[in-house]
Amino acid sequence: FAFTEANHAWAEAQITKYPEGRQASAIIPLLWRAQEQEGWLTRPAIEYVADLLGMAYIRALEVASFYFMFQLQPVGSVANIQICGTTSCMICGAEDLVSVCREKIADKPHTLSADGKFSWEEVECLGACANAPMAQIGKDYFEDLTTERLAEIIDALGRGEVPTPGPQNGRFASEPL
Ligand code: FES
Repeated sequence: FAFTEANHAWAEAQITKYPEGRQASAIIPLLWRAQEQEGWLTRPAIEYVADLLGMAYIRALEVASFYFMFQLQPVGSVANIQICGTTSCMICGAEDLVSVCREKIADKPHTLSADGKFSWEEVECLGACANAPMAQIGKDYFEDLTTERLAEIIDALGRGEVPTPGPQNGRFASEPL
């Protein structure tokens, strides 16, 4: 693994933001850029970032494995569905959303669907508890989900469509109570 020329220049600019001896502070943006370039964080990608920052591979892996925004195994080419499984979402039906993923994508999390387009996982609270249950797909939140709506979203993504993110029941925070 190596950054593209443009990404390498970007990474160098990030590193210079931090004082001498504190280059490791740039670990999160560099890991994120590596993931964007590669789709997920391979061991060579993590080693590469660690080398750039003058830190041990294990220290970089500690960071990469702590945050669920970092993927340490291949993800679907179209989408990785992240179902929030924390309390509010759990009470409001997260387990049913997981069942949809098991049926439509793969029985186990972090597993590619047969066509390689999708993967799924359960994650901790994404801070949208008022609109539980919800899922993050790519960089978007899909909230107030039902099993039917999640199934529709997965089908639409599979057809190359772009479902509208946000609350899926028509409720928006800007509306009067
Ligand atoms: Fe699901 Fe907070 S509990 S977003």
